[in-house]
Amino acid sequence: MNKISIIGAGRVGETAAQTLAQQEMCRDITLLDIREGAATGAALDIMQSASYFGFDARVAGGTDPAMLRGSDLVIVTAGSPRKPGMSRSDVLDTNLNVINTICENVLEYAPDALLLMVTNPVDVLTWHAWKRTGWERGRVFGQAGVLDASRMASFIAEETTLSIKDIHAMVIGGHGDYMVPLTRFSTVNGVPASTFLDKKSIARINKRTRNGGSEILALRQQSSAYNAPAAAIATMVDAISHNRRRVLPCVCNLDGEYGQYNITAGVPAIIGRNGIEQVVELPLDEAELAGFIGSIDAIRADLKNL
Ligand code: LAC
Repeated sequence: MNKISIIGAGRVGETAAQTLAQQEMCRDITLLDIREGAATGAALDIMQSASYFGFDARVAGGTDPAMLRGSDLVIVTAGSPRKPGMSRSDVLDTNLNVINTICENVLEYAPDALLLMVTNPVDVLTWHAWKRTGWERGRVFGQAGVLDASRMASFIAEETTLSIKDIHAMVIGGHGDYMVPLTRFSTVNGVPASTFLDKKSIARINKRTRNGGSEILALRQQSSAYNAPAAAIATMVDAISHNRRRVLPCVCNLDGEYGQYNITAGVPAIIGRNGIEQVVELPLDEAELAGFIGSIDAIRADLKNL
């Protein structure tokens, strides 16, 4: 890819820009923020780390949406973050307006881009951005499952004391209290994770995974998570920019998969140069499917509030 734009120079956007630059995912990275100076300052700061990290990707910041021109991928992190005690749905009204403006700008200046949504509530806002752009469904998708699965993997590593390098976890459903951690589809280098876990540890892992974002917010008070979210963005960008066709849990617009229509939720998908190339349907058992449907119901309830 030649150019990636990140809208929102908050902690997630800025950390993602630094990571993408450092990993040389493209030639040009544009960071945009409506707050005067915020993105320009962040871009300068990142550029001044280039000689140490040895990257020559160019990072530019500003407020002018025309800077989106030529973007192959636009990543949306802008919006109001949650305060301690708030759910991700509590910021829906504020962030809906932000997303509407962003969609207009993207349609005007980057009509051929892919759109990666990160702003919460991410499932609902990905659905909204998809409808608003009118684009083919695979071009508009969101980040949540890579983060949730990496949280789950870290908790599995903690409970088993095994190397995180071997651990692959899977989380589906909405990025909220009803997300569905799937132990049965999580492995330690191909060995079912359940081999190393008893019922109590599985319950602890699932609970902490669902609560992963809130745990950090409650501790920090002034900030949601941003290191792991930025790493999750970089993982998806790497799959797209190198056309790796990785199978990652992504926020996808469903069209009959899992029996669901006209809804957006986290499911594993093949992700590559064209965005979401195929939704992967897991053979869920009854309890897993019930959990997934419960999660979809929570997203549908939010969609009614749009
Ligand atoms: C989290 C928030 C940012 O999961 O959604 O950390």
